[in-house]
Amino acid sequence: MPYLKKVNINNNDYYYLFHTVRDGDKFRKLSKYIGKEKPDEKELEKLRKDFLKEIHKLPEEKKEEVKKPNVVAILQDLQEEKGFLSREDMIKISKEMGIPGVDISGVATFYSQFRQTKPGKYKISMCTGTACHVKNSGALLSYLEELLGIKAGQTTKDEKITLEFVNCIGACAKAPAMMINNTVYGELDKKKVKKIVESLK
Ligand code: FES
Repeated sequence: MPYLKKVNINNNDYYYLFHTVRDGDKFRKLSKYIGKEKPDEKELEKLRKDFLKEIHKLPEEKKEEVKKPNVVAILQDLQEEKGFLSREDMIKISKEMGIPGVDISGVATFYSQFRQTKPGKYKISMCTGTACHVKNSGALLSYLEELLGIKAGQTTKDEKITLEFVNCIGACAKAPAMMINNTVYGELDKKKVKKIVESLK
């Protein structure tokens, strides 16, 4: 589903709708200018539907071809907007787009990029890419699991911290590294990891 995002251009805020579509093997983000004012919920619903109509204005016989491969893109948008894929949102998309629920849940469970539970306030992404792996990031991941009392892919009971592992966060020179929300922490060891985790509690 298209999602609303505020974009700052030359110190002015503008609202855009973004929507990801599949283009061959790649994904493309399409955008539509909305204006300087944030639309209310009702307006937003209508703008989203109109945008979808514009994008998918295709002959009837082509619609099925487009819908299925686009499930990944649609779910990417939804996750970007809401942080996870709730059952309710997936049912809503299935109805609105006329895509069978089984296709949607199949895609959502097949790809590890999709999360179906609400993420915590802090998302710790421990890197297990090659550069970090050779510097023992696997042991640090186990240490994080021990400290937090959860396994990778889970969220703490107080919904504060989600732990996951990722494949390279672009900080190989600082391996072993991890990311918490948008902040990168590098050259980690157990002592540093413990201090960082304690600062989140
Ligand atoms: S492999 Fe870990 S940051 Fe690149």
